Amino acid sequence: MDTNTFETLIAEGKTIEPHDPMPEDFRRSVLRQIAQHAHSEIIGMQPEGNWISRAPSLYRKAILIAKVQDEAGHGLYLYGAAESLGMDQGEMLERLHSGQQKYSTIFNYPMLTWADVAVMGWMGDGAAIVNQVPLSRCSYGPYARAMARICKEESFHQRQGYDAMRVLANGTEEQRNMAQDAVNRWWQPSLMLFGPPDTDSPNTARSMAWGIKRHTNDELRQRFIDLCVPQAEALGLTIPDEELIWDAERGHYNSGPLDWDEFWANVNGAGPCTRERLARRVAAHEDGRWVREAAAAYEHQIENGALV
Ligand code: ACO
Repeated sequence: MDTNTFETLIAEGKTIEPHDPMPEDFRRSVLRQIAQHAHSEIIGMQPEGNWISRAPSLYRKAILIAKVQDEAGHGLYLYGAAESLGMDQGEMLERLHSGQQKYSTIFNYPMLTWADVAVMGWMGDGAAIVNQVPLSRCSYGPYARAMARICKEESFHQRQGYDAMRVLANGTEEQRNMAQDAVNRWWQPSLMLFGPPDTDSPNTARSMAWGIKRHTNDELRQRFIDLCVPQAEALGLTIPDEELIWDAERGHYNSGPLDWDEFWANVNGAGPCTRERLARRVAAHEDGRWVREAAAAYEHQIENGALV
């Protein structure tokens, strides 16, 4: 393999394309990250999909349907990008179902009220944008290009979430309490979306050297905190962190510790809703078996000239 070409392309900030030679570890690492990302998109459809029939108005329902459909589309772009590295969607789904590939911990928390849907848009998708915009400069071309469109749609998701929060935060006392309760429960899961602290992140250093990631987990987490705190203030809501304080010298907010034991338990398959999310995913896959079989039979007939 011509490692020289690979290293030159990386050094020059050019993208690696599927036909370019690449070290096996690079291929594996990009595939690992894209698979985790793709699975997050499709598992993420579940908690919000559960709220479509209970959205408080036709307007909110139409937005939520569009958002959940967008997530399916994001999954498909990403599975497509991963396939260019040699693993098809069927195999990735098998690995998801058997727990060999991961999805984001944030989707393993229950969505108890309508305010949870709003906060997931505002903070969950807000965190996703902070994480994903730099990925549109990722060194693997198909992944970077998929991110360009995904980020535009995520931006709409974040804005609709903030708008739904704005209505609740300016509503009745009961609505304001519901909004605050949701912020209290989703702040930590949103910060954990950025991954473990840099000191405990086995993949960051190499992914940064190869341009797969452009910033470390802690850098992006800090950027999100700095963006989100003023938004919470504008909504009149409190971030549940007593140590949160603006540090003028650093030009950033200082924040308190997160419960990393909870995070690792979640990553390793023991999140509050992990079992439920995976069972639902496997059942949906089984329900769709006849569609895949019919499509394969149709393709087979076309290949054999039985259909014109
Ligand atoms: N949820 C689940 N697993 C996680 C999370 C998380 N929030 N954060 C880290 N992990 C896993 C990693 O996948 C890795 O496991 P692996 O080596 O078995 O793959 C392990 O914990 C150690 O973490 P890192 O070394 O920090 O891993 P990495 O360098 O890949 O960074 C990160 C993790 C930041 C999530 C990165 O993979 C990334 O940016 N992914 C793309 C974006 C993404 O997937 N976002 C989630 C979707 S958000 C949404 O759709 C709303």
